[in-house]
Amino acid sequence: MIVWDVVIIGGGAAGLMCAIEAGKRRRRVLILEHSNRVGKKILMSGGGRCNFTNLHVTPDNFLSANPHFCKSALARYSPWDFMALVERHGIAYHEKELGQLFCDQSSKLIVKMLVAECQQAGVQIDVGCKITMVQKTAAGFALETSLGPIQTTALVVASGGLSIPKMGATGFGYELAKRFGHRIRATRPALVPLTLNGETLAQYRDLSGIGLLVEASCHNRCFPGGLLFTHRGISGPAILQISSYWQPSDELQVNLLPGIEVSAWLTDRQHNRPDAELRTVLTEKLPKRLAQRLCELAFDNLPLRQYPPQELQAMAKQLQHWRFHPQGTEGYRTAEVTLGGVNTDELSSATMASKKVPGLYFIGEVVDVTGHLGGFNFQWAWASGHAAGQVV
Ligand code: FDA
Repeated sequence: MIVWDVVIIGGGAAGLMCAIEAGKRRRRVLILEHSNRVGKKILMSGGGRCNFTNLHVTPDNFLSANPHFCKSALARYSPWDFMALVERHGIAYHEKELGQLFCDQSSKLIVKMLVAECQQAGVQIDVGCKITMVQKTAAGFALETSLGPIQTTALVVASGGLSIPKMGATGFGYELAKRFGHRIRATRPALVPLTLNGETLAQYRDLSGIGLLVEASCHNRCFPGGLLFTHRGISGPAILQISSYWQPSDELQVNLLPGIEVSAWLTDRQHNRPDAELRTVLTEKLPKRLAQRLCELAFDNLPLRQYPPQELQAMAKQLQHWRFHPQGTEGYRTAEVTLGGVNTDELSSATMASKKVPGLYFIGEVVDVTGHLGGFNFQWAWASGHAAGQVV
């Protein structure tokens, strides 16, 4: 039986990167992927164009119980390192907004590139492999799998989080970590649409499909971006971002008119359009049906001249601090990522190695490091995979 130097569980972004780096160091590397192909989440990412990194990566773009943990790996593998790889493979890309880099053509090219790099580095990839048992041995690890028994010196867990079970996500990595004595920080869906219920949902449900630019805030974090009303609640980039900070029973504050001095604007409109009704004036800046709904929910729809200055000011404040009380999230079915995961206190931030079990490593989303929307999660996958790939 071959004794592998490195077995990597999970052929996603982090696992593939780790395999490439370890393979380049002439380690004998095997990737075990339980689904029928590697890189499925890469394929579906960024609307099929893979937002593969972000030019403005900083540790502040990541949530973790230990905000310092991600620093070392991110510093040693930067967005420019991944861009250089992409460029070497002749993959055209562009910056969409806010430093987000997307393929011009298709995310298939990123998977093709990673698989080609694996091949060049002599990495073996076995798909459709079910792992039924993992045991520590004196020399490393013994695995029982649907492809037979496998032995390895180092074992890297790159099995991802719980989001999108349909694409092969499992809790395997967390269970394995627990069996080897690691603690797991509570997991929950993140970068996920928020749901409304009861009367609140009834107030907004028929606005489904309407979108606007807002700033969404919760727990002293504020994200600019789109808000989209859905049949079940609210979504869009600003809502996905804030969902990572939102906790059940929290209130969300949304600035419906970001970037303008609303009180001064309403005063100006009162001066220039005194006979226009509030609803009509609001449609200068907001979608028509939303403006109408806001008037039904919160304001009398009077000609502007009839509002005293303090009422205009109060209205401006309300428009800039519109409150939503989400009931929950759409869950792992639609969440882009999983918050929480393998406790970073028990991992080396330089190598991703377990401090408890020699030869065991955790990389990517299974670790308690979760990025903002915009290419940060892939950058963590590349960087943590690269860190482990240097030492396994
Ligand atoms: P990943 O989930 O990629 O890989 C884990 C692998 O392990 C999978 O192939 C899985 O099948 C396999 N596996 C699981 N259990 C196993 C077992 N028991 N045995 C063997 N294999 C097993 N991020 C970003 O930066 N930019 C973007 O554009 C997007 N877009 C996006 C869209 C959608 C719809 C989703 C769901 C997510 C994103 N993301 C994203 C997030 C990004 O996809 C995610 O953070 C990374 O893929 C995480 O990489 P990992 O390698 O850790 O897990």
